Amino acid sequence: MSSSSITIDSHITPDATGDTVKLEIVRAMTTMPKMLSPKWLYDDRGSELFDQITRLVEYYPTEAERSILEDHAADIVAATGATTVIELGSGTSDKTRTLLDAFWADKTMERFVPFDVSEQTLVDAANMLAERYEGLDVHAVVGDFTRHLPQIPKEGHRMVAFLGSTIGNFHVEERRAFLGALADTLDEGEWLLLGLDLVKDVPRIIDAYHDPSGVSEAFALNVINVLNREFDGNLPVDQFVHVPYWDPVEERIDSRLRVTMPMLGRFEALDLDVAFNEGEELRIEVSTKFRDDKIEAELAEAGFAIEHFWKADGPTEDAPPDFGLILARRV
Ligand code: SAH
Ligand code: AVI
Repeated sequence: MSSSSITIDSHITPDATGDTVKLEIVRAMTTMPKMLSPKWLYDDRGSELFDQITRLVEYYPTEAERSILEDHAADIVAATGATTVIELGSGTSDKTRTLLDAFWADKTMERFVPFDVSEQTLVDAANMLAERYEGLDVHAVVGDFTRHLPQIPKEGHRMVAFLGSTIGNFHVEERRAFLGALADTLDEGEWLLLGLDLVKDVPRIIDAYHDPSGVSEAFALNVINVLNREFDGNLPVDQFVHVPYWDPVEERIDSRLRVTMPMLGRFEALDLDVAFNEGEELRIEVSTKFRDDKIEAELAEAGFAIEHFWKADGPTEDAPPDFGLILARRV
């Protein structure tokens, strides 16, 4: 059998100090409330901490989604007939192997396109997959899925996988823009495989973002180290505390870093002084939990028709399902 090929396209400037990025951080730090894109959570250390989160007993989404993939990977292959599998926010592509194994066994998959903002994690995953599937064309894309969807390779009959409920990390209006842009990127008859965390017992959700071992907190606080490193900053990480709120109206965890005392910091690379009042919060991430009708309406509005909506059981017989996986066709 022929060996695999690996291509890596990069759409992110290596020093992260291009004008667009600079402007993004200046805006994030000068608007009220201060608010960052969650993509800043995922430097090498952040990606490693997220990987640890997925192994916590409290963080149910990963294993719940894996169980759906194990039960339905063959159905996904049969329904889509995809020859190109694209994964947005692919990270380590660990769970994705369940899906790719099924495509590989069917001998129809020609290309896998992992797409992530975290370059080293992506390169490691691309190497691992090229070794696992001998002869596969692995075409990795380092990019921001809020900006670079038009750069996704066009070859083959495509299925885009967006797993892990990463769609929940968008705010409502960003999610709408993302689904619209994704629909514009795909041709009629191509596919979206979407993983979603579902609304459930609130304490169970809160525990998933507030584990006693402190991994979730370390993941959240690491974003301060990322900003200090990328933009030559001096914000003292030990003066922030992680506060994950449950927002009952938006039905999402709203993760913030709160300063314990007034603080004045500086980002030399941005020529920017940043002041925090006592108790002020920097918003770093939302993790939205979904109801069927809401996501069904949003997908329809964007131009996707749902063909399957599989669910993972909750922890007890009378508990609602834990997690959903939607297979939808671009119409
Ligand atoms: N899909 C994996 C990883 C989820 S973690 C899973 O289901 O477990 C979210 C992933 O999305 C991380 O790998 C992070 O680097 C990536 N990511 C976050 N924001 C991004 C953005 N704007 N563009 C591209 N990748 C992004
Ligand atoms: C990647 N994303 C869906 C995770 C989530 O659940 O929102 C990231 C995460 N943040 C804290 N824990 C996990």
